[in-house]
Amino acid sequence: MRAAILLSGTGSNLVAIATSVRAGRLPLDLCLALSDRPAAAGLARATEFGMPTCTVAVRDFADREAHEAAVARAIDEAGAELVILAGYLRIFSASFVARYAGRLINLHPSLLPAYPGLHTHERALAAGDRLHGTSVHFVTAELDGGPLIAQAEVAVTATDTADTLGARVRRAEHRLYPTVLGWYATGALRLRGETVELDGLPLAAPVRFRAEIPT
Ligand code: GRF
Repeated sequence: MRAAILLSGTGSNLVAIATSVRAGRLPLDLCLALSDRPAAAGLARATEFGMPTCTVAVRDFADREAHEAAVARAIDEAGAELVILAGYLRIFSASFVARYAGRLINLHPSLLPAYPGLHTHERALAAGDRLHGTSVHFVTAELDGGPLIAQAEVAVTATDTADTLGARVRRAEHRLYPTVLGWYATGALRLRGETVELDGLPLAAPVRFRAEIPT
């Protein structure tokens, strides 16, 4: 299955996905890494893994619609069947989401529905949460609101800062995302309407990977 990865930043999740592919654990053909930011470090990481890369910079287009059309063209020309969002910091229009319905997957650094949007680690700390984590979901037009597939919990410690907590969430993401993408690549996971199906059965709740309890 051919897959494109869209990113705006460091690309540590791209590295985790590409490492799983290279190790033979994830049956995806990573046919494109696309960024809206030319300087995104993730593009260099993609090149190290032999992935074709492209930048679709916002400033090169008259408006959001034209930018999105160029993104879609690059995805389609690469022959991607699956579109993996890995730190892509732009919000898609409803028509873009509809075009890739059921094959557009995102990773979000919180236990959704808690903390959609930005600064999730800061917000979890400010709320005094003991449990934080990360979520993988199908993308719909609602920001970080699409049907949830799986979540990994991360324990919050008394001394955590947004940086230490964020680093722990990233480590959980690097395990969770390749696992979930593997379900999709093997046909075990799909979206039927608004319902997530795993192994042919509707998921009543997202698959939850529990936190290790700190000692
Ligand atoms: C991840 O924390 C992901 O949850 C969020 O963006 C971050 C991307 O990190 N959507 P990286 O660029 O993969 O290191």
